[in-house]
Amino acid sequence: MLTSSEGVPIGTLVSSLTVGPRGPILMQDAVLMEEMGHFVRERIPERVVHARGAGAFGYFEVTHNITHYCKACVFEYIGKKTPIAVRFSTTSGENGSSDLTREPRGYAVKFYTEQGNWDLVGNNSPVFFLRDPMLFPSLSHAQKRNPQTHLKDPNALWDFFSLRPETLHEVTMIFTDRGTPDGYRHMHGFGIHPFKMINARGKPVYCKFVYNTDQGIKNLTREQATALSGTNPEYAIKDLGDAISRGDFPSWTLYIQVMTFEEAKNMPFNPFDITKIWPHEEFPLLPVGKLILNRNPENYFAEVEQIAFCPQNLIPGIEPSPDRMLLGRMLAYPEALRYRLGSNYQQIPVNVSKQAKVANYHRDGFMAMGNNQGSGPNYYPNSFGGPEETREFLQSSFHLSGDVARYDDCKEDNVSQVRKFYLTVLDSAERQTLSQNIAKSLVGAQPFIQQRAVKNFTDVHPDYGARVLAELEKLRAAKEVK
Ligand code: HEM
Repeated sequence: MLTSSEGVPIGTLVSSLTVGPRGPILMQDAVLMEEMGHFVRERIPERVVHARGAGAFGYFEVTHNITHYCKACVFEYIGKKTPIAVRFSTTSGENGSSDLTREPRGYAVKFYTEQGNWDLVGNNSPVFFLRDPMLFPSLSHAQKRNPQTHLKDPNALWDFFSLRPETLHEVTMIFTDRGTPDGYRHMHGFGIHPFKMINARGKPVYCKFVYNTDQGIKNLTREQATALSGTNPEYAIKDLGDAISRGDFPSWTLYIQVMTFEEAKNMPFNPFDITKIWPHEEFPLLPVGKLILNRNPENYFAEVEQIAFCPQNLIPGIEPSPDRMLLGRMLAYPEALRYRLGSNYQQIPVNVSKQAKVANYHRDGFMAMGNNQGSGPNYYPNSFGGPEETREFLQSSFHLSGDVARYDDCKEDNVSQVRKFYLTVLDSAERQTLSQNIAKSLVGAQPFIQQRAVKNFTDVHPDYGARVLAELEKLRAAKEVK
């Protein structure tokens, strides 16, 4: 039976209450009022970045023992399964934008463990553009729309990229065809940040998380992505949903890389700088388990738009490393989530801790659901049976020292790992595609910005700079001929 939001039966939803067949509407038409009143409030703020995405649900299963590194309950024994939610996304486009843009893809996983929710909010690339969170708003502004024209702005993009050479590694990766993955099923995922893992004896190591796609990597060429953007801009969301609907459940293998504190101290570069990878030769991938996605959302808004991922959500056994980007994100996301979804966003069903009971002294606020923790005391300490601290779950203690200052490490080595990627991972054809993809975008920037960008590519390797320059010249010449 059709009802109002108060549960009252509705006689009809196709005609307003009017004075005669041609007369005006009466104010007492509560059905129409509710119809309109709710409709005009349907939109909530979209995510400031990663607004467009696709979600799915499934489970994580442990296949290898890593309890000697980590006591987190999610890794407790081989065969253990934990329910998960995953959201994939593009980065800079709005909620209704194309799935085919050249940029990193988001890969966010929520593990609903019995010690609360653990969120690993990563990307499909092993590195990121920046190493200091202070620059993130500017990176995002440069990628999004020009404040005057409301158009995407290659000048702003390449101005920022070329002024901050720490972006070179990620720029080089996303301007290969990996910047346009063939949907979300055919890409790897990376937590990117180093975390700390603590074992049952309290011993810490640093670690990174990597998910390798079991479907195999598949990318689109620039031409394919451009064509699909016109004919099927919802390509990635549809591809994921269709695969799950037909029972072709996508899966990924979760690996970790482990670095001891001693190794971290002796690293020739800052291992907490996420513009750099930890080389596989020194820090091999150790298998941990499988992520399998086997359920589509039943309702997009409820389960995907409202899902709230936060790098602060860590469980006992997994702690932050000194990576500044991670720490900056731990500040930013809860702010964003309270703004976007309200102060009680953890009470929205998809965000509720499914296996651990929530018990604390938070009360009230907009949209407090359920019984608001009932009649229990709302202050701590108390003598009336409120939830108690459990000291065994204190974070591990660690020592810090150093001179407090603002360190701009723009001049660090920004090129060695990019050079290695360029020379040893890419073959000659891929280097050519990379240079063409860059030139296609860079040609839209002013000449002095083009020059600065080419100089940065030349610093990586003269061949890289020369190829980009040659492609730029071809495009400029073609423009002049026209
Ligand atoms: C200081 C740097 C960063 C800041 C300030 C930042 C900020 C944000 C904000 C505000 C959101 C929207 C949250 C929401 O409303 O739900 C978001 C989403 C996201 N970010 Fe970041 N971000 C940063 C760096 C990164 C990095 C390095 C990664 C990858 C490792 C990343 C991956 C993601 C993903 C995957 C999402 C979408 C999550 C979802 O599907 O709901 N971000 N970011």
